[in-house]
Amino acid sequence: MYGFAERMAPLNGSAIREIFKLLGDKSIISFAGGNPSEASFPSEELAEISAQLLREQGGRILQYGATEGWAPLRESVAQVVAERSIRSTPERTLILTGSSQGIELFTKSLVNPGDVILCEDPTFLGAIQTFRSYQAKLVGVPMEADGVDLAALEEAMKTHKPTFFYTIPTFQNPTGCTMSMEKRRRVVELAQRYDTLILEDDPYGGVRYEGKTLPAIASFDAADRVMHLISFSKTISPGLRVGAAIGHPDLLRKMTINKQGADTHTSNLSQAVVDAYIRSGQYFEHVQAILPPYRAQLAAMLKGLESFPAGTVYTRPEGGLFVWIELPEQIDAQAMMDEAVQRKVAYVPGTFFYPDGGHKNTLRLNFSASTPEQIERGMAILKQLIEEKL
Ligand SMILES: Cc1ncc(COP(=O)(O)O)c(C=O)c1O
Repeated sequence: MYGFAERMAPLNGSAIREIFKLLGDKSIISFAGGNPSEASFPSEELAEISAQLLREQGGRILQYGATEGWAPLRESVAQVVAERSIRSTPERTLILTGSSQGIELFTKSLVNPGDVILCEDPTFLGAIQTFRSYQAKLVGVPMEADGVDLAALEEAMKTHKPTFFYTIPTFQNPTGCTMSMEKRRRVVELAQRYDTLILEDDPYGGVRYEGKTLPAIASFDAADRVMHLISFSKTISPGLRVGAAIGHPDLLRKMTINKQGADTHTSNLSQAVVDAYIRSGQYFEHVQAILPPYRAQLAAMLKGLESFPAGTVYTRPEGGLFVWIELPEQIDAQAMMDEAVQRKVAYVPGTFFYPDGGHKNTLRLNFSASTPEQIERGMAILKQLIEEKL
């Protein structure tokens, strides 16, 4: 009855939407979402900061703002990305309504229908949807434990001449894998050699439980081929909707024009709150404080996995919110989902994260939304179910 645009044709979120409906059912132990824990939100601190900001700068905050972002935040973001060895300036920074907006604006600025985007295989579902909405041709490049398979990436760049390569190098969604330092360097070299761009999406970098922070891909980028995206969704709150894009001003200018049409600017109040939180130093203390509970949740999940049937392979992430599992070949994680839900456990079948589907024996588990006790129980139920299927 409604004549939808052609670009809507490849989009069907239905299967995954069904799973997310389950998240409202409190009796289900859900490993399906990707939400940070509500217990981690600094509500009191933000309430105080907001009240003070509104009292002192109400006129400015409640007025329309600049599309590029709240000027003080465009400066203070530099403190956050410095940890990743990126040197940012306000001119190289565009504030976003969540990093997902960066994926959208970058794609809209660069991609014509039929253009190729390379992505990791598997990759973030939201990005797949956005790329498809611009009628891009998506080509997945296989992942290895230390990030994308470089030989396959080079071959794909040579063959497909992509507009850009989309990567989530740190605690990747969905696998939890982190790209090695050497690969980060090499990926930039390849982009340079094959004259393509890189969209580096890094919303999880701040959430590290062990090991050392690696320099971002963008830090190796002397030729301005990388657009780096950060997000405050996992380190402060996703509801504030604040992220940032850091890259060449020419690219940001086009993205800014598209942002004008999308939302004029990100909420001034959200931006001012994030800025004040960073400048007071509370942000960095807060990030340290949210790590121990997540670390314990991840440990509980990995412990549960130890006794999974032989032939189960899983990642051991050093941060982020997800563990990725490959079950023995004969198990279909999508088909198993109904029974898992009857037994009150939910997860996301891995097939959804592959642009071309397949990989039926994979699944993604999130640990941030469940207590260690729930994780122990949920993992025991999953293990039992898998054993029955074998
Ligand atoms: C890889 C990746 N990119 C981007 C996002 C979107 O985050 P934001 O809330 O900043 O829009 C997510 C959220 O789950 C994600 O996993």
